[in-house]
Amino acid sequence: MPEPIIQVGDLHKWYSGVHALKGVSLDIYANEALGLIGDNGAGKSTLINILSGTQRQDDGWIRLEGQPVDFSNPRDAMERGIETIYQYNSMVPTMTIARNVFIGREPLKFSLFGIGVMDHKKMRDDSVSAIADVDLHLRSPDAIVGELSGGQRQGVAIARAMHFKSKVMILDEPTNHLSVKETKKVIGFVRGLKDQGVTGIFISHNMHQVFECCDRVVAMARGEIVMDKRIEETSIEEVSEIL
Ligand SMILES: Nc1ncnc2c1ncn2[C@@H]1O[C@H](COP(=O)(O)OP(=O)(O)O)[C@@H](O)[C@H]1O
Ligand SMILES: [Mg+2]
Repeated sequence: MPEPIIQVGDLHKWYSGVHALKGVSLDIYANEALGLIGDNGAGKSTLINILSGTQRQDDGWIRLEGQPVDFSNPRDAMERGIETIYQYNSMVPTMTIARNVFIGREPLKFSLFGIGVMDHKKMRDDSVSAIADVDLHLRSPDAIVGELSGGQRQGVAIARAMHFKSKVMILDEPTNHLSVKETKKVIGFVRGLKDQGVTGIFISHNMHQVFECCDRVVAMARGEIVMDKRIEETSIEEVSEIL
């Protein structure tokens, strides 16, 4: 067995009275697509918010490629190669696609006096290729994100994550509010991640979607993992009965 890319050990999280994670332990292997399912309130988002640096655990540990990590914010996690795409992703609707691809990581060019200024040409050119790489048919990198459909916005978020070579891509309910066609596209992205050497964590409450694009299914209920099986060793029926 190879060493897991991410190891989570005995993770606990309390929100005032609510014990949202009750000692969750999980190994995630490089290049697998892991489907995380469970009812509303099961603790899925809490678990991935800790992995992505949005929240902090109250107890337990995380290792990334064998090294202990403790992220204080999403930037820490991104710098270590963990990108998260949320249902309502962190795009600035009034800005262009090119600016959104590079948000927080704008390339600089240096002026005569050594002052860094944003390299708009590089942002445009690189965002064109980033978007082409994820097979997104957008008219122009200058299009305003607020004018895109939900699926196109997810596409931009995915293009951004791929461009910055994330090792792990977490998608938290990325297909909510998407059309059937857009959902298909996101499922296709998840399925293609391993060919690009990216580990995927796909959160959904739609079991059909998980069975379409994941290698392994982990089910959570009331803050605990209640099932962990390879897709070929289980069925939608079995998972439905557990939840
Ligand atoms: N910021 C928060 N403040 C208080 N309670 C929260 C917060 N986030 C989640 N919870 C509670 O923690 C539990 C797990 O929630 P969550 O991780 O969002 O589950 P899921 O993503 O599986 O729907 C739920 O009982 C939820 O109400
Ligand atoms: Mg959630």
